[in-house]
Amino acid sequence: MNIAIIGAGNIGECLGRKWKPNHNVILGVRDPESEKSTALAGKGFNIGTVQNAADRAEIVVLAVPASAVESVVKGTRGLANKIIIDVTNPISTPVPEGFQSMAEAVAEWSGSSKVVKTFNQTGSANLENPKYGDIVLDTLICGDDDEAKSKAAALGKELGFEPVDAGGLDNASLLESMAKLWVTLAFFKGKGPEIAFKLLKR
Ligand SMILES: NC(=O)c1ccc[n+]([C@@H]2O[C@H](COP(=O)([O-])OP(=O)(O)OC[C@H]3O[C@@H](n4cnc5c(N)ncnc54)[C@H](OP(=O)(O)O)[C@@H]3O)[C@@H](O)[C@H]2O)c1
Repeated sequence: MNIAIIGAGNIGECLGRKWKPNHNVILGVRDPESEKSTALAGKGFNIGTVQNAADRAEIVVLAVPASAVESVVKGTRGLANKIIIDVTNPISTPVPEGFQSMAEAVAEWSGSSKVVKTFNQTGSANLENPKYGDIVLDTLICGDDDEAKSKAAALGKELGFEPVDAGGLDNASLLESMAKLWVTLAFFKGKGPEIAFKLLKR
């Protein structure tokens, strides 16, 4: 698949590195000529502007800080036709006014009915390695378009997660709250980033 990852920080680079053996991945950045972009190109990443990356992709992954989401989404043309995987978390930046979640704001601003929320509920170390011994971590996925969810689920499996369908995009606020809880436990309650939630079933 052609995948654009917008934002090349901890998460964007990790997702890109894990997907690029099987997909055509391009990182969409603010400055493709910057030192950081040159270093990423040296690691084998395709780099482009945000618009250039989005134009070339059927799946656009948002991996920018929550504070940048509105300007990125509103400033990028053609997103209405794309599957958008929203990995962002409104933690220090609040959920935009008038919305229950960042993902629903992304759907409204982009005009896309294929927005999926996932890969946001846990830390970068867990995205890097979603295994705790024999236990495989889940990635909960919500969205209103079945094809978009199933493509996100396949990408989640490639990262090493067990995908779990968590319903429609109106559940995105639950997944964003899970991220807040994870951050609270990891960084404010002293448990550290090597922790994870797991859905148990019997
Ligand atoms: N870190 C985690 O454990 C984790 C886990 C799950 C979800 N998330 C969420 O994932 C998102 C990214 O987190 P991160 O840890 O990867 O952050 P990060 O390391 O700070 O990276 C953010 C990236 O976004 C880029 N960016 C900022 N504004 C941009 C814009 N207007 N256009 C294009 N790119 C822009 C930055 O580029 P510059 O270098 O140009 O500033 C940077 O490369 C956040 O919303 C976060 O809440 C994070």
